[in-house]
Amino acid sequence: MNSFADRFPQNLLDALRKARRVAVLTGSGISAESGVPTFRDAQTGLWAKFKPEDLATPEAFQRNPKLVWDWYAWRRELVSQAQPNVAHLALVELERRLPQFSLITQNVDGLHQRAGSRNVIELHGNITRTKCFEEDIPVEKWTASGETPPRCPRCGGHLRPDVVWFGETLPPAALERALAASRSCDLFFSIGTSTLVHPAASLPFEALQRGAIVVEINPDPTPLTARAHHTLRGAAGEVLPALLRAAWSGENAS
Ligand code: OAD
Repeated sequence: MNSFADRFPQNLLDALRKARRVAVLTGSGISAESGVPTFRDAQTGLWAKFKPEDLATPEAFQRNPKLVWDWYAWRRELVSQAQPNVAHLALVELERRLPQFSLITQNVDGLHQRAGSRNVIELHGNITRTKCFEEDIPVEKWTASGETPPRCPRCGGHLRPDVVWFGETLPPAALERALAASRSCDLFFSIGTSTLVHPAASLPFEALQRGAIVVEINPDPTPLTARAHHTLRGAAGEVLPALLRAAWSGENAS
């Protein structure tokens, strides 16, 4: 039996089964059921408790590198304890079933890759990686000297997490791949994102403009909701597995 309350529209199931090129955009909502907090949910979101301008900008890091490093170290620890959930796993299965599949994520938690997704495009970096603040070059190993943040073994500059902060540009190659996938897909899913932070938020609209069918999975409305062809209201961990079962096992709730 399907736990998702609504019956999925037949034309959505047909479109999914027939799709050749699928692009998926995910946001922090897909990791919520793994215990990783979102950013903007009232009460539980990170930006309800912390100010982004104190923690997620280059200026914040220059003002107080220790505070920023420690905050990301806390989040890295949280992510390392988290496990991929059934929504991450459903996207692994979707990739296996479809000829061409791109998973564009704003998440820095690496849970898609840990679940087994292969073609993952990280738009906002990855919290498990580190780079040099001065040189903007990845750094894998450094000697702990007791100093926080640690120093770059090459230039002595501060090390920082390899994530995109407010005011910074996205990795150009990742953005290019994400745009290409969004513009060439026949089906686009936007899952667990508030669709507020650009340029990621423009991707579903790029897909719409090129004639793709756009599906949103989110318990709450977003700026995309009114334009999406299908809105599936609910938690990704409920909706996605049910959608796959409905499409390929014929289990559609009535
Ligand atoms: P937000 O916190 O802005 O939005 C999370 C979305 O997930 C909301 O629309 C929720 O309704 C939805 N949601 C919550 N629980 C869910 C669940 N179980 N299943 C599905 N959806 C659920 O997070 P993002 O959209 O990821 O940027 O935020 C975008 C960017 O803003 C982040 O990448 C980050 C942040 O500042 C940077 O750090 C550069």
